[in-house]
Amino acid sequence: PSSAYILGLGFHVPEKVLTNRDLERMVETSDEWITSRTGIRERHIAEVGTSSSDLALAAARKALDAAGILPSELTHIICPTLTPDSYTPSTACILEHKLGLNGAMAMDISAACSGFLYGLETARAILALHPDAVVLVTAAEVLTSRTNWADRSTCVLFGDGAGAAVLASKPRGDKSATVMDVLLRSDGALGDFLTIKGGGSARPYALGESVCEDFFIQMQGRDVFKHAVRSMESVSREVLERNGFGVEQVDVCISHQANLRIIEHVGKKLAIPEEKIFVNLDRYGNTSAASIPIALAEALQTGFIKAGDLVLLATFGGGFTWGSALLRF
Ligand code: ACO
Repeated sequence: PSSAYILGLGFHVPEKVLTNRDLERMVETSDEWITSRTGIRERHIAEVGTSSSDLALAAARKALDAAGILPSELTHIICPTLTPDSYTPSTACILEHKLGLNGAMAMDISAACSGFLYGLETARAILALHPDAVVLVTAAEVLTSRTNWADRSTCVLFGDGAGAAVLASKPRGDKSATVMDVLLRSDGALGDFLTIKGGGSARPYALGESVCEDFFIQMQGRDVFKHAVRSMESVSREVLERNGFGVEQVDVCISHQANLRIIEHVGKKLAIPEEKIFVNLDRYGNTSAASIPIALAEALQTGFIKAGDLVLLATFGGGFTWGSALLRF
């Protein structure tokens, strides 16, 4: 029997939209190239000065509303993010303060695009230890703060946004979703394929040094692509198998929204029909850790996910990290 339930979901993206046409004026690219290679048509981007915790706050409020939970009921706040407000304080502590709270356990998780599933598993562990806990997992990214706008191979891919889930060990009302299982993996040997190295302890900046390329997201796209397809396929099979489900029992599949071709490849390899696969990266781009909870919240809001559905989540990101989860709505 599961001891973790999602009581409510919410997401938020900044208002400003950057289209492929806008990008044509910034770098040597075309709407045709971006659409055909990635499936992305536009993405939302934060104004300079808007931080991950600002987006997290808006998403968290919506998730709390959907759950019917007051902020003061939260005991644990977890923020998976690749683009924290700062090294310290953590985005989770800043979010806690912005919610008008203090005294919760609050921490960030660094697992790149897989962050939300790492957050879900952490929430499950907390709820197993503390059955009365109410856990907020809010993945938030201002990836554009680490986007090199002169690098066409990466700047067309990313968008900003946040997605949140409120979890408890008992369901509330008939809208709670059961977290049936989460399966997480990583392999540091592949870390160099996707990095933001600059400013870390292995690559400290000296006072007065100007920011250089390693401050930004750097990626070897083809290698990431190859591993993403392989890993998401195998971890999805594994989570289904160990829970005794066949692929045909999956009602909705949500993969990390990085590239439509990756999503389609994973779907084909698993033999999941297209109409069961949720896609919203055409409008949001790759929002890293926020991608899965944004997709989950939107899929529920738009009726793509229905009561009783078995939902398979699959994710992949820097580290490398990857994982899968099974939810029952
Ligand atoms: N516009 C036009 N041409 C471009 C652009 C662009 N925006 N970007 C690259 N090109 C060119 C390249 O220079 C190259 O030209 P060349 O053949 O003359 O050298 C050509 O297009 C092909 O480049 P590739 O990189 O081989 O293109 P590919 O088909 O692999 O697509 C892409 C690139 C979209 C990045 C793809 O590899 C991909 O999506 N990879 C996975 C990314 C991902 O999933 N990341 C997930 C994790 S993200 C995270 O954790 C934050």
